[in-house]
Amino acid sequence: MNITGARVLLPGATGAIGSALAARLHDGGARLALAGRDPEALERVAVACADAPRLRFDAYDLDRCALAPRWAARALGGLDAVVVCVGVAGFGPADSVSDAVAEHLFTVNALAPLAILRAALAQEPPPGVLAAVTGVVVDAPPAGMADYAAAKSALAAWLAAVRRERRRTGVTVLDVRLPHVESGFAGRRVAGDPPRLPQGLTVGEAADRIVAELATSGAGPHSRTGPGRDGEAARGKGVSPSP
Ligand SMILES: NC(=O)c1ccc[n+]([C@@H]2O[C@H](COP(=O)([O-])OP(=O)(O)OC[C@H]3O[C@@H](n4cnc5c(N)ncnc54)[C@H](OP(=O)(O)O)[C@@H]3O)[C@@H](O)[C@H]2O)c1
Repeated sequence: MNITGARVLLPGATGAIGSALAARLHDGGARLALAGRDPEALERVAVACADAPRLRFDAYDLDRCALAPRWAARALGGLDAVVVCVGVAGFGPADSVSDAVAEHLFTVNALAPLAILRAALAQEPPPGVLAAVTGVVVDAPPAGMADYAAAKSALAAWLAAVRRERRRTGVTVLDVRLPHVESGFAGRRVAGDPPRLPQGLTVGEAADRIVAELATSGAGPHSRTGPGRDGEAARGKGVSPSP
């Protein structure tokens, strides 16, 4: 995908990784439509990206999530990519996690990304690149993160199936399996206490990885058909706990 001139919808643009990614894509010449929950952060990131169009949404409002691709396509005159950076962490042994927390984790980490990406697929034409950030927890679910890892794995499985469905249609589906990132993400958890986490990537390094995955992704039948590169690297090597 050529970043320069690409019209990109970025849900989760208010987060640490999402806002760093927005800055890099903007600097690289992409045209952004930014979606996020926190109004002040959304305003700040949008202003820093040439007053990019912005849409507020909460992951619990799946109908509004599904409106985002059409809104972005209208705002940008078309849509070339969607990169979902929405997520929330939750920790604790499985028997300590309430159903309400499990619902929260699955809504933010799986159902909302699915609603956004599903609506993007229904666009005519669909964007050439659909991407979401999952994590190495998909390859090696750590103790104390069962529900978070299960939610990210649900997203990863959906992406893998859609990649197969669309493999001959010119739509590239990316699953960006980041390792731990020093973004403060665990500190914004909805429940539990995180395990000791290894030293992670910097936020800038994480954003660079996503940009690299986008830049090397090619829409069309020769696009990647396996799991994300981080996932491949992690498999068989022993993965440190990470959200
Ligand atoms: N940090 C890590 O170690 C790590 C590792 C692997 C994967 N990831 C994934 O990377 C992505 C970005 O994480 P991050 O580290 O940048 O954390 P972050 O700064 O906490 O960003 C999380 C993003 O999700 C949004 N979000 C959370 N709950 C929401 C809700 N109910 N409705 C709408 N938006 C909501 C946040 O919006 P607000 O700004 O409005 O709160 C924010 O934009 C997530 O998908 C995360 O799972 C992170």
